[in-house]
Amino acid sequence: MAIPTETVYGLAADASNSEAVLSIYETKGRPRFNPLIVHCADLAMAEMLAEFSPLARTLATLWPGPLTLVLPKRPNVPLSALVTAGLDTVGIRIPGHKLALDLIELVGRPLAAPSANPSGRLSPTTAGQVVEGFGGRVPVLDGGPCVAGVESTILRVDGDTIVQLRAGALPRVEIEALTGRSVLDPAKDSPLVAPGMLSSHYAPRARVRLAAEAPETGEAYLAYGAPPADFGGPMLNLSPARDPREAARNLFSMLRELDASGAETIAVAPIPPTGLGEAINDRLVRAAAPR
Ligand code: TXA
Ligand code: MG
Repeated sequence: MAIPTETVYGLAADASNSEAVLSIYETKGRPRFNPLIVHCADLAMAEMLAEFSPLARTLATLWPGPLTLVLPKRPNVPLSALVTAGLDTVGIRIPGHKLALDLIELVGRPLAAPSANPSGRLSPTTAGQVVEGFGGRVPVLDGGPCVAGVESTILRVDGDTIVQLRAGALPRVEIEALTGRSVLDPAKDSPLVAPGMLSSHYAPRARVRLAAEAPETGEAYLAYGAPPADFGGPMLNLSPARDPREAARNLFSMLRELDASGAETIAVAPIPPTGLGEAINDRLVRAAAPR
């Protein structure tokens, strides 16, 4: 079943049930080496699955929220090996959405949930997009449009270091302000890279052209701030007021809508890379990657 979260919709299954977890991989067409995030209702549930260092515990004060912590898995936990794809770590988060939390509590067990899109496509931020993406084969718990609109920030906490495996809805500066530590990037070829960070991902059908100050004839345009004068083609605006939160919320839906306009190329206005702009640009670069 698909469930709402504050970031994007997730395709959820009982994380202890291998058959249920397998059906997630099959439904999404997801490679088995790419582990799933485990969603918990509270810290007690999370602490049954993973070892929390003092630093991890500090970061966990940001829960419920758009943050996933990759932590050492405890021995003999009731998690299907498919969830962690055989790794000795587990990605955990407590989502900031009442319906999701109520459901996990009702089930009484953690739920494994990747984003509820066919592998490689745009993540869904409404129930309707989930229905559409899987051709109506997946039931959806409709919790309204997702308020954040991009996926959670993923951090690997290892001793005293924090490595950001995926930029996301929780900006780096907030993590640094809370912990007083700098958030590191995975070194090139570091084993700490999230297995799922394939360079082409979040792909619309159309080609994507980035940092486009203005659209060219025949393109669709995704604006940010003041729109170009006298452009007659399909155009949407991520945020006329240049508010990154509004832009993140609109990002995937607007890419979908412009994709549906039939244009061969979607040109996207430049978006400053600071704060939430880091996650927005990360998704855009992947959407624009050659496939
Ligand atoms: O906001 C979100 O995070 C959404 C909602 C539904 O919670 N979920 C989501 O899941 O984006 P998914 O499967 O699309 O992305 C999960 C990412 C993948 O890149 C995966 O490789 C990484 O998390 N991941 C999960 N467990 C990991 C682990 N133990 N070590 C490293 N990376 C891990
Ligand atoms: Mg995903």
